[in-house]
Amino acid sequence: MTASGTEDTVATLRARLQRTEEQASARQHQLERYAADLREVFKQERTRAQELRESYKATVRALSNAVEARDAYTGRHAERVTAYGIALAHAAGVEAERLAQIEFGFLLHDVGKVGVPDAILFKPGALTPDEFALIARHPVIGSEILRDVGFLGEGKLVVRHHHERWDGTGYPDRLPGDEIPLAARIFAVADALDALTTDRPYRRGTRFERAREEIRKHAGSQFDPDVVAAFDTISDATFAALRATNT
Ligand SMILES: [Fe+2]
Repeated sequence: MTASGTEDTVATLRARLQRTEEQASARQHQLERYAADLREVFKQERTRAQELRESYKATVRALSNAVEARDAYTGRHAERVTAYGIALAHAAGVEAERLAQIEFGFLLHDVGKVGVPDAILFKPGALTPDEFALIARHPVIGSEILRDVGFLGEGKLVVRHHHERWDGTGYPDRLPGDEIPLAARIFAVADALDALTTDRPYRRGTRFERAREEIRKHAGSQFDPDVVAAFDTISDATFAALRATNT
């Protein structure tokens, strides 16, 4: 091969190499663009999912507020009991991904009271057995109201079973022990804590310390002993702070 022939070959190879490099670089840019597009799509999806979750939450809170608005004495009971219940669920080791549905259940636990006449719900004196039977239907009415609301998931179990007792003497299904869904067992303790520490027209609320003794006393009869043990890992100060932000 002549010297000029060799130069031609080198020039051709160089040109080919340069084309290859240009193509590789163009492909890389394209891939980077795809990756950026994909990241943007993920970001938008995340935002949309977040917005959806927020609107679920706002809807549930609106419904919960509508129930609360009927009863001037309980004030923000649903919000407080939800805050206590979520703290308890954390302490009891409930997986984070279950908490959203459980929280909805806590907020809506008494939604079935819309089916109980005011004259019975707010009757100042003792209830007749028939009147009590009507009130005792509110967990069933509540779970019927929410039956087809898919996103509430496990929360619906709280609504149905929030008045069950560990010893099987609660209502509506008289479920015993761990046949009661865990979220409902957790709710029962949170609900008792709020009932004991909130002023009512007929009595003043007790301090957290006294309420804790009362709840311990009923571990194994009214409450799941494991949930009461989890409850005991949370300080009075933590509950007081939760109450202060939900009053
Ligand atoms: Fe209830």
